[in-house]
Amino acid sequence: MAGVSVQAFRRQGRRYGAGLVCSEMVSCAGLSHRNERTLGYLRIADDEHPLAVQIFGSEPRVMAEAARMVEAAGADLVDINYGCPVKKVTKTGAGATLLDDPPRACAIVEAVAEAVAVPVMVKMRRGLENGSRTALSVGPQLVDAGASALTLHPRSARQMYSGEADHSLTAELVELVDVPVIASGDITSRARAEAVLATTGAAAVMVGRAAQGDPWTIAEIAGENGHRPSREEVVAELVLFMRETVRELGEERATGFLKKFYGWYLGKGRFPKPFKQELVQLPTLSDVETRLFAAAPRARAVLETLERDTAVGDETMLDLPISIYGGG
Ligand SMILES: Cc1cc2nc3c(=O)[nH]c(=O)nc-3n(C[C@H](O)[C@H](O)[C@H](O)COP(=O)(O)O)c2cc1C
Repeated sequence: MAGVSVQAFRRQGRRYGAGLVCSEMVSCAGLSHRNERTLGYLRIADDEHPLAVQIFGSEPRVMAEAARMVEAAGADLVDINYGCPVKKVTKTGAGATLLDDPPRACAIVEAVAEAVAVPVMVKMRRGLENGSRTALSVGPQLVDAGASALTLHPRSARQMYSGEADHSLTAELVELVDVPVIASGDITSRARAEAVLATTGAAAVMVGRAAQGDPWTIAEIAGENGHRPSREEVVAELVLFMRETVRELGEERATGFLKKFYGWYLGKGRFPKPFKQELVQLPTLSDVETRLFAAAPRARAVLETLERDTAVGDETMLDLPISIYGGG
């Protein structure tokens, strides 16, 4: 998820049982221009594998070059974005618009699959307009072009994130292709994951928003028995996430970036509502940490254990960018 799936988020997901994690979407034009910030997306830590790095763009040649860079950086899979509904991306002919240009969409997959030895996957929306079934006609063509797996988020681009993901379409896609299909959209619990797997025949589910500030949901979906975290665990994970994000983004960028995470971690009835408001207004991350530990003093010991178990390598010290794009 653009603006969310920083390295700290992906490493946390792996720790809590995600079988595969994915980077934010990375601009192939940015990679092609050796844009320093874009290159920052290609820093991969040892404990992230298996990791997919997602690229977006509209030129087969440039996408192939980007895919080679992604492979060289150590990604286990290259994912291609045909889902992003954001205008900034679609107006360049990338993201979800490619669903309406199957020859180009296939040419990109062909060029990328030709360029790399690792598997190539595609992530799609159902189509551009509400009720669209474009993914069902384009999906099999993408497989013929070389896609080893497809992820479907069965909302239209127009819908953005409103309404519900219509996984009856996922079931139809599973029938049409002989590669694994991953179901994305509204997977928020183990019960939901089981229902979607059972009714669609999908090979896997992808968890997006439900994992924001809630790695425990990943653990639950992955099969651990519904452990709900204590306040100490929540604070310890949040502080670890803050510290890792500072290492990735630098203090200044991390300070703004992290604000949306406070609500995600502290909501869900874990802390009273005004607490989040208070944190958002504190001037420095050190103030935020102090306030968090004041609210849950025993979190310090939990954090110590976590930090011991998740020691970071040099590769996480780099200045990673925050995506200015966003969405799929
Ligand atoms: C903030 C945000 C950023 C996203 N960025 C991407 C992205 O970069 N690439 C992508 O394929 N999907 C992206 N998505 C879409 C998600 O991968 C997922 O398909 C969608 O949110 C539905 O799943 P969920 O209900 O589990 O969140 C993004 C979603 C959100 C909310």
